[in-house]
Amino acid sequence: MEIIGDPQKLRKRLDELRVERGSGFQPPRAATVGLVPTMGYLHEGHLALVRAARQDNELVVLSIFVNPVQFGPQEDYEEYPRDLKRDTNLAQEAGVDLIFAPKAAQMYPEGYRTFVEVEGLSDKLCGASRPGHFRGVATVVTKLFHIVGPDRAYFGQKDGQQVLVIKRLVQDLNMRVEIVVLPTVREKDGLAVSSRNVYLGAEERQAARVIPDTLHWAEAQVRAGERDADRLREAIRERIAAEPLARIDYVSVNDGHELEEVDRIGDRVMVAVAVWIGKTRLIDNIVLEGLSRCGES
Ligand code: PAF
Repeated sequence: MEIIGDPQKLRKRLDELRVERGSGFQPPRAATVGLVPTMGYLHEGHLALVRAARQDNELVVLSIFVNPVQFGPQEDYEEYPRDLKRDTNLAQEAGVDLIFAPKAAQMYPEGYRTFVEVEGLSDKLCGASRPGHFRGVATVVTKLFHIVGPDRAYFGQKDGQQVLVIKRLVQDLNMRVEIVVLPTVREKDGLAVSSRNVYLGAEERQAARVIPDTLHWAEAQVRAGERDADRLREAIRERIAAEPLARIDYVSVNDGHELEEVDRIGDRVMVAVAVWIGKTRLIDNIVLEGLSRCGES
């Protein structure tokens, strides 16, 4: 496995590998590339993405880059966990071919001034609490797609809004890459795996269970026929607020496409929450589809 930091070098090396690992038969075919973009401190969710990329592609590139432009000035850019040695071992075991781990100055050299904005989707939910966050995500993902030129890129459903932003970006900018979304990977007690879970103390970790427990409960309500979105939002708020260490950032019951809040739950719904547990902001969501086939209350 190779580790490369310089975008130009990565591009050159990938050009070589595409030929080496492609089919030599006539007509020759370049190897397919799967990209797993991450900010490192790899967990089981990332490794599930790598395994899927390994199955689907001849080459797997893992990017590890804590992207400064998606963090606000008061956010955890400096504290965000980093451990390249640990990540390298995990990536190697999972079958990554190449790690792209640039420095901030290699991605955003002096004088950098081009940003990508996906309007409408970027200022709701997490975008409302983290202004500029999705502009930073859209910018770095666009750059990664241009540098790596993947056939497929892999993301987790835990970042549901990010997935919608990236899918729209790819559609609007006529990019060739296929976006593959994998289900949220959860700990045994249901908490979505996240690099930020390491911030939680023991008591906070216990309190964080209120998030998956409440989403699970909300799913049962909808499946049992609840269609009144306001009533559901309110009930979710009450359940989370009953946990003394939890502070709600948002509770959203939206259409799962445009992230518009709905009054009545239709065929598809996304229930998404962001909750502070102490100083740690955690997000999670569930998407329910095919609901018009279930009974209404
Ligand atoms: O989901 C993440 O880890 C990041 O937002 C991403 C997609 C790697 C962009 O920095």
